[in-house]
Amino acid sequence: MQTSIVAGLGWGDEGKGKIIDYLSSQFRHIVRAQGGHNAGHTVTVGENEYHFHLLPSGILQPDCRCYLGSGAVIYPPQLFKEIEGLDFEVGNERLRISAYAHVIMPYHMLLDEEREKARKESPLGTTKRGIGPCYVDQVDRIGIRVIDLLKPADLKESLDRVWDIKNRDFELYGIQHQLDKEKIYSEYVEYGKKLSPFVSFIEEELYMAANRNESILVEGAQGALLDLGYGTYPFVTSSRTVPSGMLVGSCVPITSIGSILGVVKAYQTRVGEGPFPTELGENEKSLFMSLKEAREYGTTTGRARRIGWFDAVLTRHAVYTSGATTLALMKLDILDGLDEIYVCTEYEIDGKRWHLPPASTYELARAKPIYIKIPGWKCSTKMATTWDSLPEKAKDYVGYLEKLLELKFEIISVGPERNQTLCTPVGQSIAKRSQK
Ligand code: GDP
Ligand code: IMO
Ligand code: MG
Repeated sequence: MQTSIVAGLGWGDEGKGKIIDYLSSQFRHIVRAQGGHNAGHTVTVGENEYHFHLLPSGILQPDCRCYLGSGAVIYPPQLFKEIEGLDFEVGNERLRISAYAHVIMPYHMLLDEEREKARKESPLGTTKRGIGPCYVDQVDRIGIRVIDLLKPADLKESLDRVWDIKNRDFELYGIQHQLDKEKIYSEYVEYGKKLSPFVSFIEEELYMAANRNESILVEGAQGALLDLGYGTYPFVTSSRTVPSGMLVGSCVPITSIGSILGVVKAYQTRVGEGPFPTELGENEKSLFMSLKEAREYGTTTGRARRIGWFDAVLTRHAVYTSGATTLALMKLDILDGLDEIYVCTEYEIDGKRWHLPPASTYELARAKPIYIKIPGWKCSTKMATTWDSLPEKAKDYVGYLEKLLELKFEIISVGPERNQTLCTPVGQSIAKRSQK
């Protein structure tokens, strides 16, 4: 039972990158299970700030082996850019990639962009990284996988097969494209050569590692509210972001899972379209720290994140669909300056009270949040290093959220740095997550 899963419980950007880096010293293996370069995970170490889109956020830990599982979709140029941007060598001792993972092709990105345009009045607000079209091809059984890039003849056959189908898609959307099949083929053969040293039987390796009782951390991208099945559909991403989805995408044995850490922000944010019941208007937003200071700009697209009060209704749903066993509370410091803080405990929809969100996104869009008002602590928490050094009112806020979610926080984060992280009494009692 040495495997832990770290999963976002919001619409992404909860601070997963920070917490995975913080925990990484306790793990021997770290697997990114799903999503692609739509993700953006920020890790701050002293003066250095890293932005990972595809590389697992544990990559900075020298004695940790990182993996990209079969559930991830890989855009090779982005992966190489991240590897080459690091100030240390990344060889296959440090990074391994599943042969079964699907590859993002230039036509996926073009289709993502054009489909967003075709949605005119009701776009999804995707990152336009080709994520949806790539997963569609996987399900349609015309996708190209990492293993195909390693064998030029197989790549040629796969590309020939998909090309006519894609051209029909382009016709459907009236797209005049400049894509050149031969050029794409040559480019991806070269990517295959560069990827080849990293590709291995990670499914078997992780099975063996779990059998040896070695510690494994499964790293989630996005968050439960963006899950293809349980999120605020259709305003979701195209992968399964809940831990059960990550099991398929990482292939770690189900029986090795010991804990699931749900990562939540002290308030709610969202990038892209879709209902957001507790969203603040421009005036209310200015009560918060400026978006820039709060770092509420998308790490991938640079878009300003929408912002709102903590929503216990949606977070409860995220806890239940994720099976979280404990929680990490991120960005508590962003609330430091507020006189009072609102928390949504229930919704009213069409005159009825809701403790959990409706499955219907149309109904969710009509939800009126019922708030409770909590006094702010009006002082900085950024320097707090222990639970006891937090202001009493900040502890009350944490306790209040625990009561609403019926689950305990084990970690509180009060800044982007590794040392701006503290354990709650529950966190202290979980002596060490695992024996490395
Ligand atoms: P992820 O996608 O879940 O990894 O989150 P992002 O990295 O996209 O966004 C979180 C942002 O908040 C990043 O800029 C982090 O550096 C920053 N951050 C993480 N935890 C904290 C915290 O506790 N306080 C503050 N002020 N910033 C934090
Ligand atoms: P991390 O891992 C925040 C959002 C997009 C859009 C929707 C669908 O950094 O938390 P897609 O390109 O996936 O088809 O877009 O999902 N989205 C994210 N929002 N953080 C992310 O990742 C996201 N990945 C996708 O903004 O609304
Ligand atoms: Mg992010």
